[in-house]
Amino acid sequence: MTQGTLYGVGVGPGDPELMTVKAWRLVSTARVIAYLSANGGESTARDIARTFFPDDATELAIDMPMRIEREHGEKAYDAGAAQIAAHLEAGRDVVMLCEGDPFFYGSFMYLFARLAGKFETVVVPGVSSITASAAAIGRPLAARNEVLKVLPATLAEDRLREELQACESATIIKVGRHLPKLRNILGLLDLTSKSVVIEKATRDEEKITPLADVEGDVLPYFTTILVYTGREPW
Ligand SMILES: C[S@@+](CC[C@H](N)C(=O)[O-])C[C@H]1O[C@@H](n2cnc3c(N)ncnc32)[C@H](O)[C@@H]1O
Repeated sequence: MTQGTLYGVGVGPGDPELMTVKAWRLVSTARVIAYLSANGGESTARDIARTFFPDDATELAIDMPMRIEREHGEKAYDAGAAQIAAHLEAGRDVVMLCEGDPFFYGSFMYLFARLAGKFETVVVPGVSSITASAAAIGRPLAARNEVLKVLPATLAEDRLREELQACESATIIKVGRHLPKLRNILGLLDLTSKSVVIEKATRDEEKITPLADVEGDVLPYFTTILVYTGREPW
């Protein structure tokens, strides 16, 4: 029997209209649609693409415990890969949804690592959160010879300070509960007025706030901060 093909499909940052035509075609003709579901509950990627699911598609929710310990994630990816492999071995294609772009800090890469050597695998790029965030605030990410840095807020404070010190343009992802650390570093480097916070870009709940006006110490997981040292953001 011919094996199925695994498609890792980027579904973009939130607005379903930002799915590519290819993503739409694969989702709307899929027999099996897989996605990660946080602690067995919600799936952002599913929410984005749901409107295009065929009525008779089989859904495969891969339960992903949202714990810091790496071994829990590894076990969940092993289990998810085995579930996907069973469909592929039976000759069914599997469309795995991934928020944003699959290979830009995307969880699909962990399934790719487990399955791409054994099954035909196609990666379909998607609109990433960083370009969506820049579009939302109407400010280019980088121009001419400028260097753009992507910094996960999970990095240690010293490393973040070092990277931001020598920086023309930065996008800080995974902000969530790391806001106090970022506020402190950006303040010390005199970059607060050049930093804009974008929550849930392109979704109905999208919110844009200059960093100086952000209240509280925790932001949603789907938050990005754009820092541009070259000119004032507004
Ligand atoms: C694990 S990364 C996944 C990135 C995703 N694969 C992409 O291409 O954008 C998750 C981080 O991306 C950022 N992010 C994802 N979607 C976003 C959105 N709609 N608005 C703002 N930031 C977003 C947040 O910083 C979040 O913590």
